[in-house]
Amino acid sequence: MNQCLRHLTISLVLSCFANLTVQANPLTGKQLYDIACSACHSLGQTPDHHIGPPLGGLLNRQAGAVEGYRYSEALRDSGWRWSLPTLLAWLAEPDAALPNNAMNYVNPLTAEETQRLGEWLLRKP
Ligand code: HEC
Repeated sequence: MNQCLRHLTISLVLSCFANLTVQANPLTGKQLYDIACSACHSLGQTPDHHIGPPLGGLLNRQAGAVEGYRYSEALRDSGWRWSLPTLLAWLAEPDAALPNNAMNYVNPLTAEETQRLGEWLLRKP
């Protein structure tokens, strides 16, 4: 009986520990993108059936410049170019960054997660 309890305790402790390590593992840029962006964006380079413009090849791209996607005037005329600082400003609060834009969106990620996602996204060809 004692032996049995001992086993039970050890396996409980181990399974709790396993749970903790899973939760402590940070999500990758790709996982964060899937959670927070993929409902509206694709990673292609041409307009598709998604709500937002495609986000492939974003690094150094002029904002509002994918041919055939109907951007808001705010984004099209922003003069912005996509880099880590502009992307982080945009994602932190799109409406404050460029008033009257059409990305109706509140970012659910922490600043640290947003940065990880941004670095991953800007490496996508
Ligand atoms: C609810 C839908 C929605 C979600 C979710 C969303 N976006 Fe957008 N996004 C849009 C729309 C719509 C636009 C076009 C805005 C405009 O024309 O003003 C846009 C525009 C953009 C642009 C400008 C692209 C360009 O060609 O200039 C970037 C960059 C962007 N989104 C990144 C993201 C990222 C990264 C995420 C996830 C963290 C995200 N968006 C989540 C709808 C969304």
